Amino acid sequence: MKKILVTGGLGYIGSHTVVALQERGFKVVVVDNLSNASIDVLVGIEAITGTAPEFERLELRDKSAVADFFREHQDLDGIIHFAASKAVGESVENPLLYYENNLHSLVYLLQNCIEHQIPNIIFSSSCTVYGEPDQLPITEQAPVKQATSPYGNTKQINEEILRDTCAASKLQAISLRYFNPIGAHKSAQIGELPVGVPQNLVPFITQTAAGIREKLWVFGNDYPTADGSCIRDYIHVVDLAEAHVVALQRLLQQQSEEAFEVFNVGTGKGSSVVEVIQAFEKTTGITLPYEVTDRRQGDVVSVYADTTKANNVLGWKAKKSMEEALASAWKWEQQIRNQ
Ligand code: WQD
Repeated sequence: MKKILVTGGLGYIGSHTVVALQERGFKVVVVDNLSNASIDVLVGIEAITGTAPEFERLELRDKSAVADFFREHQDLDGIIHFAASKAVGESVENPLLYYENNLHSLVYLLQNCIEHQIPNIIFSSSCTVYGEPDQLPITEQAPVKQATSPYGNTKQINEEILRDTCAASKLQAISLRYFNPIGAHKSAQIGELPVGVPQNLVPFITQTAAGIREKLWVFGNDYPTADGSCIRDYIHVVDLAEAHVVALQRLLQQQSEEAFEVFNVGTGKGSSVVEVIQAFEKTTGITLPYEVTDRRQGDVVSVYADTTKANNVLGWKAKKSMEEALASAWKWEQQIRNQ
């Protein structure tokens, strides 16, 4: 049974990936510093799969603690690295927190990969690396642009750290560039747990529908798009989790053509903010109170993936619809409010 370390495995995407890994027979060890996740997520994972993964609380910024952990876990077949700070706005206010956390954590992990000959790592990247794209849909060959936030810059720098480390060692890596993850596992046992006021669109929508927020503010409808609101590629988090399992199997079966590979992980379809609102209303029967306000600084007009490479090379394709994702997000919101 292959043993996989999942850092940040109690987070939103991490927990869904742990479920997918355990359902495919992998043994999973989760480390998380619990700065943006609850230990209770272990209960949800066990409720779905019947197994609670091995868990250790670990601060990846603590170099000696990371070294100690790897001395205790010499039998790892791979790592999926989610643990990172990921709020765009916070990164602008507190860049050093982002550079220290997101860069030091990866460097310490990679140093231990080399020392303990751990052969494979999958990195959680983001379409943010593309900035405002010149062409749509975006392919992996699109130029990585000047980052629009320290958060996005840490993802770009992390990919360069990985590329250089793989070139200088036997390590094989795959970077998955996520578009916009939404939704929750159909069981409503795990889902997105935004801390404070949600920054992202869908959790703000579900909290508005639950009456926690008075209304949704649409950040601008004067963009050069059909209905004036921004376009994104919203992918069901369960489809995204599956992409990690497929990428891991590619590495374990040594099918990679290069030491460092990059894949866009999206649906290939762009949806505007207004279209997401309409889809939510249609799916749930709830009329969502919203008001248009000023544009949000840093937003790009339109971003959606060309998924040809992931479809053809990785052999993965998103299967779930926007409606299914929004219905699962709403079911999760109702579940956490009834707790
Ligand atoms: C989507 C659209 C907003 C909230 C970010 C990060 C990305 C990833 C996902 C970490 C935009 C609009 C939003 C609201 C709104 N995070 N919106 N009202 O900005 O595309 O991506 O989160 O990995 O890296 O960049 O996602 O959900 O914040 O915004 O109108 O209350 O919804 O303007 O057009 P974004 P988002």
